[in-house]
Amino acid sequence: MSSPTAQASASAGRIFEIPDAESEVQNLPGAVILEEIHGQVVFNNVTFRYFGSGEPVLKHVSFEARPGETIALLGATGSGKTTIINLIPRFYDVSSGAVQIDGQDVRKVTLHSLRRQIGIVLQDTFLFSASIMEIIRFERADATDEEVIAAASLAHAHNFIEHMPEGYQTMLGERGQGLSQVQRQLLSIARAALADPRLLILDEATSSVDTRTERLIQQAMDKLLKGRTRFVIAHRLSTMRNADQVLVLHAGKIIERGTLDELLARQGLYFDL
Ligand SMILES: Nc1ncnc2c1ncn2[C@@H]1O[C@H](COP(=O)(O)OP(=O)(O)O)[C@@H](O)[C@H]1O
Ligand SMILES: [Mg+2]
Repeated sequence: MSSPTAQASASAGRIFEIPDAESEVQNLPGAVILEEIHGQVVFNNVTFRYFGSGEPVLKHVSFEARPGETIALLGATGSGKTTIINLIPRFYDVSSGAVQIDGQDVRKVTLHSLRRQIGIVLQDTFLFSASIMEIIRFERADATDEEVIAAASLAHAHNFIEHMPEGYQTMLGERGQGLSQVQRQLLSIARAALADPRLLILDEATSSVDTRTERLIQQAMDKLLKGRTRFVIAHRLSTMRNADQVLVLHAGKIIERGTLDELLARQGLYFDL
């Protein structure tokens, strides 16, 4: 692993299925370091088209996530959930409007200082083959073994890791071969817990797991997420219930917003979904 930054962007690219060649985002002249953030995220009238032409896939999207809030994104496939998330670590630049973190336009800060403060927990987050220890430590190269183990314990991953043939030294194949989907997710929670970012992006697993496992993952997430600003692509009602704001997307627009109870009371589009 020559450059952790390159690896991180490459792996994030894979997560979001952005071929590297298409991602032209670079540091702009005069980019400054984004200092330690509180975690406020603002979309200010954001319109976005992929590759400069065609219909915008986001149209005049505005919202504010206050530090520590949970924002659930809800909407049919193709409505723009992943695109919204892609704009926060600046995998793409907006066509118009702005994405701001703690009041700073993400185009005006360095990619490294931006992305290192954003944790991403998805299901298939391993691009490279490495030991479990290295995978958890990936974004915090300076972490001690004890810190890695503490993060794994918090994520409820310690037990299954200890039962692997070589424990934390067990090598995993690319994309986490040799682990179940749930185990991969717990490992990515451990990794995010160790990195401890103020801002987290989560894509809930859609595959069905038993209720005990689901509770385990939920508990691990809740510990990890305490006080963090989080964006969750939500598939479960329980997640939406815990969200401070649910943003309902349809064809690139926010068509409803509020708490789950407010949306249910209004019986709007959400009600049909
Ligand atoms: N890399 C891309 N190039 C062009 N269009 C894309 C790309 N990724 C997604 N889209 C289009 O953008 C729209 C929103 O997609 P997406 O944000 O992935 O929605 P969701 O995550 O809600 O399913 C869809 O119409 C999709 O086809
Ligand atoms: Mg998506």
